Amino acid sequence: MFKSSWSSPSNIAVMKYWGKYGLQLPRNPSLSFTLSASVSHTTVTCIPNIGKGNHVNIEFYLDKEPNEKFGSRISKWLDTLTLEFPFLNDFTLHIETSNTFPHSSGIASSASGLSALALCLCDLQEQISGIAFERVEFYKRASTVARLGSGSASRSVFPFMSVWGFSPDVPDSSDEYAIAIEPLDVFRTYHDAILIVNPKEKSVSSSVGHSLMEGNPFAEARYKQANDHLALLLNAMDKSDVHAFGKIAEQEALTLHALMMCSDPSFILMKGNTLLMIDKIRSFRKDTSIPAYFTLDAGPNVHLLYPQEYSSEVHQFIETELRSLCHNGFIIWDKVGSGPSRL
Ligand code: PMV
Repeated sequence: MFKSSWSSPSNIAVMKYWGKYGLQLPRNPSLSFTLSASVSHTTVTCIPNIGKGNHVNIEFYLDKEPNEKFGSRISKWLDTLTLEFPFLNDFTLHIETSNTFPHSSGIASSASGLSALALCLCDLQEQISGIAFERVEFYKRASTVARLGSGSASRSVFPFMSVWGFSPDVPDSSDEYAIAIEPLDVFRTYHDAILIVNPKEKSVSSSVGHSLMEGNPFAEARYKQANDHLALLLNAMDKSDVHAFGKIAEQEALTLHALMMCSDPSFILMKGNTLLMIDKIRSFRKDTSIPAYFTLDAGPNVHLLYPQEYSSEVHQFIETELRSLCHNGFIIWDKVGSGPSRL
């Protein structure tokens, strides 16, 4: 019996991917931190099929319970992968997955969950065919496959930081898969305190959000801005300039939300406490000069990014000023991580 288990982390985009074309290809390059505490553990066991059907057969369990919603999304994705993984026609996949972060935490499990599953598929293909890829090729393939499930999942298969989407400023970058980039030390130990304002699922799915970019009057200007931001961000990283880095992170987050606000239909995903937190973070930074900057996903929760050396001051600030604004005081203390691992 063939079996594969991987753990794979979530990631938080500093440069945002928002807008896509073709087969899940990004309209602009994005850059993310790979996280370490927010992780999915996935095991896939292949059970030989008795007959042949038109679809890939799966049994999907989240936290030991069958889950139809995620299961059907995964089935659709697997149906598109049978040329890449011919074994999908011959086996029923029994998939068990669990997340280290609570299901209703507002943290999207698609990046961690689908990257873990992509890694299992690449691993199973090697076991079944008896042909192993070079490690660089293995991860490139896993990133490509993960991308087809959820664009941002392509960035989760690498340690520390990764870039997805072609940029003339990043050698070997591609719209098809993400690549690892090697940040200087300060960025390898960055912290991300995830301040949960509202744990409910997003009110707009990312696929709807991406599609709304097609009619957005600011779309072209945004794609240009993203390329300019990436160049500035890489320069800030080269110089370990954490303030320049953080400034762009905040501009990216607010641009993402501004784009949604001016889409048709329009979405406002920040809540009152999101804005209160942003205000407090900016005052704290002004008063202390500590480089704590926020980013936001497509939802109301605030990710507070800061270098490790300031962790005690920032923790104290979070406890005294921000925890009371979180839903039931809920915070995930995450930081940059070393990427997926085979279990
Ligand atoms: O991977 P998707 O299709 O769920 O899109 C993710 C989009 C953002 O999370 C808002 C930004 C990003 O780059 O991760």
